Amino acid sequence: MNSDHEREKLNTETKVVAVGRPAKKPDGGLNPPIALNSTFHTGGPIGYARSGNETWSALEDAISSLEGGKTLIFSSGMAAIGAILSILPSKAIIVAAKNGYQGTTNILKNLQESEKLIVRFVDPTNTKEILAAIPGSQIIHLESPVNPLLDIIDLPQVIKFAKESGAGVSIDNTFATPMNQNPLAMGADICMHSVTKYLSGHSDVLLGSLSTNDPALYSRLEQARKYGGAIAGPFEAWLALRGIRTFAIRMQRSQENALELAKRLASDPRVSKVRYPGLASDPNHLVAKSFMKGFGAMISFEPKGTPDQVDLMCDSSKLITNATSLGGVESIWERRRRWETESETIPVNLIRFSVGIENVDDLWADIQSALNAAKIS
Ligand SMILES: Cc1ncc(COP(=O)(O)O)c(C=O)c1O
Repeated sequence: MNSDHEREKLNTETKVVAVGRPAKKPDGGLNPPIALNSTFHTGGPIGYARSGNETWSALEDAISSLEGGKTLIFSSGMAAIGAILSILPSKAIIVAAKNGYQGTTNILKNLQESEKLIVRFVDPTNTKEILAAIPGSQIIHLESPVNPLLDIIDLPQVIKFAKESGAGVSIDNTFATPMNQNPLAMGADICMHSVTKYLSGHSDVLLGSLSTNDPALYSRLEQARKYGGAIAGPFEAWLALRGIRTFAIRMQRSQENALELAKRLASDPRVSKVRYPGLASDPNHLVAKSFMKGFGAMISFEPKGTPDQVDLMCDSSKLITNATSLGGVESIWERRRRWETESETIPVNLIRFSVGIENVDDLWADIQSALNAAKIS
């Protein structure tokens, strides 16, 4: 890619293929090397492997091309969140969802209990409550769609209000992905990812990222990474970059499958409730449509019957894997309340379903046979 300007003009499907490549030279490889060094000769900008790595830079460049700003990668999504929290002053006030991704909620609860941070937990479905909690806070950290209920936060309104109130804004864009929304373009200070999920896409690495347009913030987060030490392995970074090459096409296919399966589940009498922001009947459809380009590939639904029957259903599928995590090429589901750490506000029968890229009719047949195996009627 010759210039930032040239690459800005490219569409997502092209960027993911073109960006993060080594400079063209005779017999130079198309892909960056997996740079396995802890130690470097003096005189260069890296010096020691906790500060930088050639393979990371390629991945960071690719994520920046999708999200904007400048990117830092971390050893996991949680490590990326940890870096944000580590740069807040002690007893800073943070606004976060009371039932978002449980890892985030739990670390915030722990920091609240040890009096390191003051957390204003809000109902992410209630825009008024979010807005009321913002004045006086240092930062808001929110995700949308919210894991696992798939509620949509009115991000343009919330981000604008937070910036006007002087609060920093960090948005976890893991579920929506840069195919569907770009938090930095909406005014957020930080766009965070569990790169483990859609960006990598093959359920084989753990990685996280933070992107920002603010050079001072970038440098504080870079220091947090360097001294916190939660750095990515070069091999994982290389795998994620390889995964990103097909991110756009995977996401398109998973989203098409998700919409179709959400429609079919919604008309199945054995299912009492379906949440997918792309369904016209979803309570958040209109707000989602107002700013998202697509609706993602996660569905939440509640089969009828007992939690034991729902566990049996999740275990009886032959194609869909009963497992935690999401965003891979393979479809995965699980009953969320099987985890003791999951919030009690999540319905006991709720299945979180990460829809993969398989044939949609094969997936539907698998869902039907799992419902039958669990005798759900
Ligand atoms: C929305 C969201 N944010 C952050 C994380 C944490 O990411 P990681 O597992 O890569 O640490 C997850 C993991 O499931 C997630 O779903």
